[in-house]
Amino acid sequence: MIRILALSGSLRAASSNACALSAAALLVPPGVTIEAYDEIGELPHFNPDLEANLPVRIVDLRARVGQADALLIACPEYARGIPGSFKNLLDWLVGSLEFPGKPVAMINTSPRASDAQAALKLVLETMSATLVQDACITLQRLGKQTDPVTIANDPVSGEALRHALTALVDHIATTSSECRETLP
Ligand SMILES: Cc1cc2nc3c(=O)[nH]c(=O)nc-3n(C[C@H](O)[C@H](O)[C@H](O)COP(=O)(O)O)c2cc1C
Repeated sequence: MIRILALSGSLRAASSNACALSAAALLVPPGVTIEAYDEIGELPHFNPDLEANLPVRIVDLRARVGQADALLIACPEYARGIPGSFKNLLDWLVGSLEFPGKPVAMINTSPRASDAQAALKLVLETMSATLVQDACITLQRLGKQTDPVTIANDPVSGEALRHALTALVDHIATTSSECRETLP
């Protein structure tokens, strides 16, 4: 079973980013699960002094990242940047053993939000994520309020999500078989 951890950068209950991730969860191929991480709003502020005695929520966050084969991120743009709560989550993963090399796909739900996407890409690359380019997509949602089933069934958005998931799963399958081949 391939496990994908979905991270929405919005805390809003009616978040269009969380909605797009839920739509992706409806479209997963057989043998793949998408689990949503929904505790971003509960994380303590990042403080390097706490690295020696990590808060329980951070231990849990890092464990869930470690157990995932890939991360699927959908993050809005706030004031042309990454929302503070999401950057806080990323900061907690900078010093982790679980994050470097992790395959990541980014879903941008708004073509206008190019500054935040560029900033996010830079941060993720700096953190040594493996960005799966073919799995990074922009949906023409523009913050439209809708529901996951409508997005999943939309011929354009649904197809783009399917394409992203296939590219991400192909990447995971390829790299895990490469790992097996290099084992003694
Ligand atoms: C405080 C704030 C700042 C925003 N700044 C931008 C911005 O700089 N550029 C942009 O394209 N959208 C901006 N937006 C719009 C959000 O990115 C947009 O509403 C997005 O859909 C929110 O994501 P969500 O639906 O997942 O909560 C801003 C929204 C808020 C609340």
